[in-house]
Amino acid sequence: MTLRVELAEGSLVRIQGPAKVTVLDGSVMVLGALFSRGESFEVAGYRSYALKALTDVKLALHMEPGSSVEPARAGEEVLDKWVYEADRLLTRGCRGFVVIGPTDAGKSSVAALISNRALLRGMRVGIVDADVGQADVGPPGFVSAAHVDRKLLWLRELRAKYMRLVGSITPHRAERRIVAGVVELGLKLRSEGAEVIVVDTDGWFQGLQSLEYKVDMARYLGADAAVAVGVPEDHVTLVDKLFSWLPCGVTFLPSPAQRRTRSREERRELRAEAYRRYLEPRVTLIIDAERVPVHGSCFLAAKPVEGVLAEAIANAVGKERFVAAAEDAGTLYIVARSPVSPEALSDVSKLVKKDVQLIDVEAARNVVVALVDKNLNEIPALIKEVDFAGRRVAVTAAQEVGEVRAVILSNIKLKEDFTEVGKLQRCVA
Ligand SMILES: Nc1ncnc2c1ncn2[C@@H]1O[C@H](COP(=O)(O)OP(=O)(O)O)[C@@H](O)[C@H]1O
Ligand SMILES: [Mg+2]
Repeated sequence: MTLRVELAEGSLVRIQGPAKVTVLDGSVMVLGALFSRGESFEVAGYRSYALKALTDVKLALHMEPGSSVEPARAGEEVLDKWVYEADRLLTRGCRGFVVIGPTDAGKSSVAALISNRALLRGMRVGIVDADVGQADVGPPGFVSAAHVDRKLLWLRELRAKYMRLVGSITPHRAERRIVAGVVELGLKLRSEGAEVIVVDTDGWFQGLQSLEYKVDMARYLGADAAVAVGVPEDHVTLVDKLFSWLPCGVTFLPSPAQRRTRSREERRELRAEAYRRYLEPRVTLIIDAERVPVHGSCFLAAKPVEGVLAEAIANAVGKERFVAAAEDAGTLYIVARSPVSPEALSDVSKLVKKDVQLIDVEAARNVVVALVDKNLNEIPALIKEVDFAGRRVAVTAAQEVGEVRAVILSNIKLKEDFTEVGKLQRCVA
């Protein structure tokens, strides 16, 4: 359905996607970006934005099922405040921004808005997406980065230039990898000419740990401004204490009062889409684990067990189930087709006087990995099969990868539809 709408200068409407807006006459502002006569933009499903008429305007709104448009009152709308504060920080010379706040607060929107305002000043902008849970630029479980060359309404309009595997979609316990990824990629974008760096972070926003690690991120990156969106009353003092030492301090922004939030199921679906963008199986590679280290693998890091000991293990777990075994100082890893009885494992444990860890032969299938190429770029890929006896790993990736220098395993396993399988055991390979 296409609506033609006329708005008077200064008026505000809120658009919930999926919708496409074409400016027929005049100019409007959305997320700090200006759109004038003849230009159009899309508001994706799951998203809502305020549109402000900068002049008297005529618009064509192509509304898809589920979309809506309604007037917004100036008092309840945050757009002007967001733009004002972003401009103020840029005018002060602030160039490195870390955007923080709880889930659905508007962090990614604010990150896009800062980018839009910087672009209007003719500055070169780089975005680092550090939200491993609701990643927009790269796939979930990765820190990713891209240069921005046009106005953005959604970070998903970008394609990652660089990615670094974190390996988990929850930041807790992955803090070091996230900080390292953000710092490395932020500095990389800077060295390639980005004058303004905007880091979008995860929505883990509960207690000291969740915030301190974001301080580290800002500190090592040399970010000068924290922008805190929708901070609950009980966290304002803490956020202020932790970030106020930055050269541009911390700027508190309100969340949009009326905004589209996402259910658990929608988040999961959004993650599936983000995986799909980077993991479409276009090429298959066979990696020789004898020569290429597989970081995060228990079995492939251990020494193969052969001969009589292997035979004894095979007899204990069942010859038809046994695939391979390997051992390190403290543990014997047995790869087998399930089910294997716990009694059989404890018999083997007594025999070898080590802990025994069972690895299902299929456990690694569709586990997300990063392939490290010769430039140390990391390319997302999916394990298809591990040949334990032959020490080879078959993976699929969406793009050609030259020489693979290393493989890094994540703890993310996907189904065929790119949604995640629940929790993984420690050793899948
Ligand atoms: N000015 C606005 N008015 C209404 N909704 C908005 C506005 N700005 C952003 N939103 C919506 O708020 C929701 C949450 O924003 P998002 O930036 O994705 O949050 P976060 O990254 O913190 O999870 C999104 O649906 C976004 O489209
Ligand atoms: Mg976000």
